[in-house]
This record gives sequence, structure tokens and C-alpha cells, in this order.
Amino acid sequence: MAKKVLIIGSGAREHVIAETFMRSRHEVEIFVVGGAKNPGLSALAKDYLIADVCDVAAIVEFARKCGVDFAVVGPEAPIAAGVVDGLLEAGFKSASPLATVGRLESSKGFTRELLSKYGIAGNARFRSFDSEEGLKEFFEELGDDFVVKADGLKGGKGVKVSGDHLNGKAEGLEFALECLREDGRVVVEEKLIGQEFSLMSFCDGNFTCEMPAVQDHKRAFDGDKGGNTGGMGSYSDADHSLPFLRSSDVLEAAEITRNVAKALFEETGTEFKGVMYGGFMATKDGVKLIEYNARFGDPEVMNVLPLLKTDFVDVCEAIINGTLADLPLEFERKATVCKYLVPNGYPDDPVKGEKILVGGGEGAGADSKSVPGDKSIPVNAFRIYYASVDQREDGLYLCGSRAVNCVGIADSISEAEKIAEEGACSISGPVFHRHDIGTAELIEKRVKMMEGLRG
Ligand code: AMP
Ligand code: GLY
Repeated sequence: MAKKVLIIGSGAREHVIAETFMRSRHEVEIFVVGGAKNPGLSALAKDYLIADVCDVAAIVEFARKCGVDFAVVGPEAPIAAGVVDGLLEAGFKSASPLATVGRLESSKGFTRELLSKYGIAGNARFRSFDSEEGLKEFFEELGDDFVVKADGLKGGKGVKVSGDHLNGKAEGLEFALECLREDGRVVVEEKLIGQEFSLMSFCDGNFTCEMPAVQDHKRAFDGDKGGNTGGMGSYSDADHSLPFLRSSDVLEAAEITRNVAKALFEETGTEFKGVMYGGFMATKDGVKLIEYNARFGDPEVMNVLPLLKTDFVDVCEAIINGTLADLPLEFERKATVCKYLVPNGYPDDPVKGEKILVGGGEGAGADSKSVPGDKSIPVNAFRIYYASVDQREDGLYLCGSRAVNCVGIADSISEAEKIAEEGACSISGPVFHRHDIGTAELIEKRVKMMEGLRG
């Protein structure tokens, strides 16, 4: 009997999730609810509902109609909106968290306070405010290095960092007051200095196990210039760590996640099932937590899932059944580089409705080296994952956000970079990408920065 899997979301993240299910030894049928028709996903899906991904009633009805076995939620908004809760009430399980524990991502204050209350290492100095009282004094205490965070899901726009987005304490205070007026709450914390990395762990409510560490690139242009984006690309190394990390850094980060999973259960009585995605900073004083997300990272998921050797259906069922400890989780020991093609003008004023050509052909999969449903782990050929694009009869059109992701997989980061770059350059139209992600030059800079910090 085929496993019927419901995927919520329609970006490149969900495309690679679907592809990974198709590599399963089980027969799998994919059902998708997404805000738009992703050509890569729709090529893999048995049925595809275009709907608001937070519309709980529509999703539950679709799950019933398709008779799905379980669901996986891609983006953060449906988790916070209670889609997993609605599905569970209707009898459908998910390898994604209920809203109560999804607060790990949707409330920055909740997570900082959880670490603090349970004495978990790696917290930043912080305070949550629900009024102006003490706010000015805390800015004085932190000095020039601070971060102001709106307490809710803001699509990446709720975090402002001194030096990057805020020039001095007065601007920090002004933004904090604006957050208080809008949300009634704000978190102010110390600015951590170091190198960021993402460590995603599967969690079944008790047991956590890590995926390879990844580094994302938030800034739009080469050399980390330009505005913040959803993430322009990312890389991972064959040893499942990163060139600027010590092996103890990954262990420390994994330990923080393990302790947070335990604390989360003690605090809420609800098991976190799904992906705990920690954004960490390697600092001169060890690993610190920046934030958690309650889902796969985008683009980080495209670095890790193509390397997953363990059957992904088995992983999701182990998350649901609480048996992850019994499942050996294995990833291919390969390096990966991802590069996003984004519309010209992105992120501030992206072109939309313009046509792009992929892999010399027109539209999804045409002449590209990505084969939907390919069961092997792809190496030495670029992979293409579709994001914010619209497949029309005469080709592929830009919808305004990150459009197409190209992934290279090889024995070293620099070889993987060349493959990803070849993929990115095969796409033509009014799009751009970062040429420097995964290059030896940029990685050397990161390594030098950490060496300088650690002395
Ligand atoms: P977002 O993922 O959009 O919430 O943005 C979070 C980004 O803000 C992180 O990726 C960091 O670059 C930055 N950030 C957040 N908190 C801190 C912190 N305490 N210190 C330094 N940078 C931070
Ligand atoms: N890589 C950024 C995110 O998924 O939020």
C-alpha cells in the first residue's frame, strides 16, 4: 500500500522534501497544498490544492479527500496558525510540531526565557519587555552592540541589529517602542559576534538527532553586501561540520538542542515533533543560540536532504511514533553548495511576470539535469529546485521572490560550488545570484575571522 504524504507549502524547500520522499523504498504518493503551483512539486504530486497554507479547514478537508497517512509542513506560518493541531484533531498525524511548541520559532521571548528558566547553556543576555519600563536602562547596559526583536513571525523583518540596521541606541529604542506599540512585546538582547551556522535536528519529542551543519548567506550581493533576504545560498562540508568550526562547536550546538527539546516538553507537556532548526553563532566564548525555527531551513534543507541515506518515510514515521532513537540516521559524506536565482531588484523591488529559461530549455525540468522521482543520491550534476515561479503554457515566469535553487554535490565544497555555479549560469532571464557562496575566497575569510576572534 502506498504511503500517502501531505506536504504543505510550495517552495523549493517543499520541492526537495517531495523529491526525498520519492527516493523512499516505500511506494509514496504526494499530495500538496500550496499558495501557487510549483512546477517541480506538481510533477511529483498526485493531487495539488492551490489554497492559503494557513486555511486549516481547507487543508483538513483535502487531507480527508486524499486519505493521507501523515503531513509535513514546510513554512512557519501554517505551524503557528495551528494547521498541525487542526489535522491532529481530524485524526491526521504530522512530522511537524503543534502550535504550542511551534512557539519556539513564533515567539523569540518564549525561547530566550525557556533557556534561562532551565539553565541551558548558550543563551544571549536578553530581556523581554511588555512596557517601556526599564527599556532605556537596558539599552544603556548593553552598550553599542544590541539586537531588537519583534515578538512574533515577521517574515524576517522583525529583527534589527545594531551596526547593520540600527545606528546607535536612539534608533534601537525607537524601533523597540514601535514593536511595543504594534505587538505589546519586544525582546532586546546582546549582539553576538562571530560566524553563524545552522544546525537542524530531527526531534520525536524526546530524542534529537542532527543533520549536517550548514551556513546560509542572508545578504543579497557578493561580499555580504546589500539588504537581508530569505537566504541567497548555503553550503555544507563532507565532514558534516563547517571549515570555521571546531568539532566541539557542533557538539555544543547539538547539546543545546537536546536540552531545549527536554525543557520544551517539561514546560508545555507537549512533545515537539519535527525539525528543530537552531541558528547558532560560533563566538570566542563558544556556541550561542541566535534563534530556533520549528521547520526545515530554506535553503539549508537543499544541502541536507539530498544527502539523506536513511529512508525519509521511516524518519517521518519515527518522529511521529517517538522511535527516532532506534533509527540510524545517515547522510552521505559529501559537500554541498546551493545558490538561489532571484529576480533583479530582489529583495526590495523585484521584477515579476518576466520569463526565465532553465537549463537551456523552457519550463520545468526541460533539459535540466534534475529528474523528478530519481531514486539515487545525485552527485556531480547540478540539481534544480523550483521556488517562486509560475509554470505557464509557454514557459516559466518569475513571481517576485527567490525563484530557482541550484545545488551542487561533490567531495569538496569547491567542486560542489563549481557544479552549483554551472547550474545557476544555465538559467537566463532577469535574475541574479551570488557568485561567491562556497568559493575558497569567501570561506577563507570566515575561517580567518574566527581565528582572529579566538586568538
Ligand atoms: P531572522 O532569521 O530573519 O529572524 O533574522 C535573524 C538574523 O538576525 C540572524 O540570522 C542574525 O544574522 C541576526 N541576529 C539575530 N539575533 C542576533 C544576535 N543576538 N546577535 C547577532 N545577530 C543576531
Ligand atoms: N535560512 C533561513 C530560514 O529558513 O529561515
